Amino acid sequence: MSKPSIERYDAVAVVLHWAMAIGIFALIGVGLAMKHADLPKMRVFQLFQLHKSIGVLILLLAVLRLAWRLTHRAPPLPETMPALERKAAHAGHVLLYLFLFVLPLSGWAYASSSPLNIPTVLFGLVHWPHIPFLADLADKAPVAAAFKLVHDYGAYAFIAVLAIHIGAALRHAFKGDVPLSRMSLSGGRQESSK
Ligand code: HEM
Ligand code: HEM
Repeated sequence: MSKPSIERYDAVAVVLHWAMAIGIFALIGVGLAMKHADLPKMRVFQLFQLHKSIGVLILLLAVLRLAWRLTHRAPPLPETMPALERKAAHAGHVLLYLFLFVLPLSGWAYASSSPLNIPTVLFGLVHWPHIPFLADLADKAPVAAAFKLVHDYGAYAFIAVLAIHIGAALRHAFKGDVPLSRMSLSGGRQESSK
């Protein structure tokens, strides 16, 4: 008997999902290390630059990903899944997309408004500008403090939402109703990408 074919996300969505997941895990690791590990000042500076470089890359990929998502249909969830659960999955994905913008934008806004005025050089190669109107503010400190709060607490909230996302994906994979292969390049036949 042939295996039932599954509908899956298209190749662009899959590659973006996993490339961004790797980048975001790195960002969380580097972000926590640069803030909380007792490292030499020079190493902390390098980690901040690395964090900002990966973060800007994630922002650019998020723009591409959202544009792709809005113009390409996602594979529908199985009809056997309760309607409420399908709605919750959709809401969860919208929330994840929101974080993919709020976090890098708040990080960039913080770096731009910080009175320390430290430049961002992507991977030691390309100068990335500050957001001009924030960099030009007369009294930057309170603005920077607000963006720092959004970025730091936003990152912790994102970690919690990610844990729920990964837990839900694994739970459905074990149940067998929504296989992980919906978000992989192989493991079943593609039926729908548009
Ligand atoms: C930083 C890490 C991650 C982020 C930001 C993320 C984000 C997302 C987003 C936004 C979607 C919805 C895709 C869309 O509709 O366009 C999604 C789907 C999915 N993610 Fe993740 N994800 C991450 C990590 C993971 C991990 C580690 C797993 C594996 C357990 C996973 C498994 C899945 C699966 C299976 C789907 C498809 C859900 C479905 O079939 O409808 N994700 N992810
Ligand atoms: C999805 C993207 C991002 C994630 C998940 C992320 C995550 C984090 C985390 C976990 C921390 C440590 C928070 C703490 O424990 O205090 C942090 C701090 C920081 N991030 Fe990001 N970040 C992202 C993007 C960016 C971007 C694009 C920039 C700047 C261009 C940036 C700049 C900073 C700065 C300056 C800090 C230090 C804030 C402080 O001193 O408290 N981040 N980030």
